[in-house]
Amino acid sequence: MPADHGGGDQLTATALVTGASSGIGEATARLLAAGGTHVLLHGRDRDRLAALAGELGGTVLDADLADPEAAGKLAERALAVTGRVDVLVNNAGLGWAGPLPELPAEHLARLVAVNLTAPLELTRALLPGMLARGCGRIVFVTSIAGRTGVAGEAVYAATKSGLDAFADSLRFELHGTDVTVGVVVPGVVRTAFFERRGRPYARTTPRPVSAQRVAAAVVRATAKPGDYYVPRWLRVPVALRGAVPGAYRALAARFGAES
Ligand SMILES: NC(=O)c1ccc[n+]([C@@H]2O[C@H](COP(=O)([O-])OP(=O)(O)OC[C@H]3O[C@@H](n4cnc5c(N)ncnc54)[C@H](OP(=O)(O)O)[C@@H]3O)[C@@H](O)[C@H]2O)c1
Repeated sequence: MPADHGGGDQLTATALVTGASSGIGEATARLLAAGGTHVLLHGRDRDRLAALAGELGGTVLDADLADPEAAGKLAERALAVTGRVDVLVNNAGLGWAGPLPELPAEHLARLVAVNLTAPLELTRALLPGMLARGCGRIVFVTSIAGRTGVAGEAVYAATKSGLDAFADSLRFELHGTDVTVGVVVPGVVRTAFFERRGRPYARTTPRPVSAQRVAAAVVRATAKPGDYYVPRWLRVPVALRGAVPGAYRALAARFGAES
């Protein structure tokens, strides 16, 4: 998004991409950088981030978002680099799969901190600058799990559903301003996500899509705000659940509601 920041001076936009060290975030950073955006590359893996910055020319900002103070500090560091963040891609996240009683309490807290609290806090901290400059694009990477529910991933799904509600409310709040909110809702994506959550993806359908395809939707969401399902047909089960929730639940329970 090449941005005009007043006075007609055409400056390169600055985008903070959380979770840029891997998967969807890395693919998004690559696409944004290819379009001329200065990317602030967030993650925890400094080596991967440094290698990516070497390739794309971005700036590395490492932070463990499970730390309650990390998101606020990350926003300050991001603003210190170029004085503004025009695009915020809230992508960093992790999963966990298994029966709820087996989810360790500290991992539950980590899921909520990284997937939900950190994006809320980053958005809160970076929004005033966007409003003051009259220019901002905020994108949330949520999940189909947050829209339909998934067995064995109740906490993960709740964090993503929380992001959806936050994004919807923010859209109302920002109506009439030049700050937009986009939501990207991926299904199954070929990244390290499943391996890291401790249970590989074992189903044959839905077939995993590439991280690049999700990244393209993230970039589209910065240009034209809205909800982007990847793949697009995922909107069908969501619509069905909205229209006939009882029938949807019966079908999902019969044909498998876990991933
Ligand atoms: N893959 C899927 O099927 C799928 C489906 C729906 C939604 N999503 C969502 O897409 C987003 C990206 O996931 P992905 O598939 O690209 O997975 P991924 O390859 O595992 O990438 C996850 C990213 O999040 C970062 N991250 C994880 N924990 C963090 C923490 N405590 N502090 C800071 N950063 C942390 C990782 O950083 P480090 O590697 O540096 O630790 C990494 O960059 C997530 O929000 C996920 O929920 C994924």
